[in-house]
Amino acid sequence: MAPIRPVDARSPDPRLIAEAAAIIRAGGLVAFPTETVYGLGADGLNPAAVARIFEAKGRPPTDPLILHIAEPEALSQLVLETPPVALELARRFWPGPLTFVLPKRSVVPDIVTAGLPTVAVRMPAHPVALALIRAAGTPIAAPSANRFSRTSPTTAQHVQDDLGDRVDLILDAGPTPIGVESTILDLTRPVPTILRPGGLPREALEAVLGPVAIQTRVDEGPQPSPGLLPKHYAPRTPLVLVLGPAPQMRAAMRELAARYTAQGHRIGLLIAEEDRAEMADLPVETAVLGPEKDLETVARRLYEGLRELDARGLSLLIARDFGERGLGLAVRDRLMRAAGGRVVAPGLDADERGYEIGR
Ligand code: TXA
Ligand code: MG
Repeated sequence: MAPIRPVDARSPDPRLIAEAAAIIRAGGLVAFPTETVYGLGADGLNPAAVARIFEAKGRPPTDPLILHIAEPEALSQLVLETPPVALELARRFWPGPLTFVLPKRSVVPDIVTAGLPTVAVRMPAHPVALALIRAAGTPIAAPSANRFSRTSPTTAQHVQDDLGDRVDLILDAGPTPIGVESTILDLTRPVPTILRPGGLPREALEAVLGPVAIQTRVDEGPQPSPGLLPKHYAPRTPLVLVLGPAPQMRAAMRELAARYTAQGHRIGLLIAEEDRAEMADLPVETAVLGPEKDLETVARRLYEGLRELDARGLSLLIARDFGERGLGLAVRDRLMRAAGGRVVAPGLDADERGYEIGR
């Protein structure tokens, strides 16, 4: 198992950072905290090191990685040109949970971009991530530090559980403050396009850019963002996402849970504090993500809640939706993918609302 080394989130010990940076420079793998989720880092300009990331995660080579930099100025060394809009967004939102997709320079290895002519770049806000990138003296390629298609890690223990025997070092700065991955913004199109809603809300981008496009559906045609599969971020237990206005949504969750527990299934609910009372008499396990309007808390707790319920050997998880405002959109995106299309919405009749366990 890889050593887990505690590190102060605000002022990381320079000796420990130097040790981690030496591993990166030697072509090794270091798992480290960012403000979004833990990343699995390697030297982003060293193809052999990057290959180890794909191997450790079991990630297909068609799924490109994000390069992490420690100064906005480093962007111009990785991309062919920096449009004014990128400069403006970087000025406002970097360091932070915003990733740009731009045409790449040849210095960026093809393995990083899965052969695409574009590269994804972000400057994270976590002091440990920034210190590591600076000490390594190279952009760090880092996907979320989980096995491919599984739930992303928000603690060092999650990383240990998934990849403990496949990384050289895990830096532990406690739970990550945002809890969902960065927002990915494609700046190569006429209209800036969100490829993955994430830690920077769409509204914040639109306050600067005006309306942005969102293209996250990947069911048909060429994929806008190759790694974003419809089934992703998934627990092992099947999950159903319930949409709709709160009263109907709660009623539908109750009905589903009651039906399946009556059949002898053990059910887990992923809910808000406001839902608790209505579900209290049901013989189910629950993970409460937070108050329904406190989307920061809900996002921070999302993956933890999924992992908690997933560890209990249940037959089905039922999750509620948190709307599409602010971080709600990122939460919905992750739950949709975790559900792999098993979405129910009140208004459909009872049969359509069903989900056959084991199907
Ligand atoms: O918050 C985050 O972004 C975290 C932390 C560690 O920084 N990283 C992360 O990386 O979520 P990952 O590998 O799990 O997701 C990166 C996704 C890819 O799956 C792909 O969809 C998209 O970024 N991506 C990367 N390069 C791209 C490109 N050139 N064009 C379009 N999409 C790209
Ligand atoms: Mg990921």
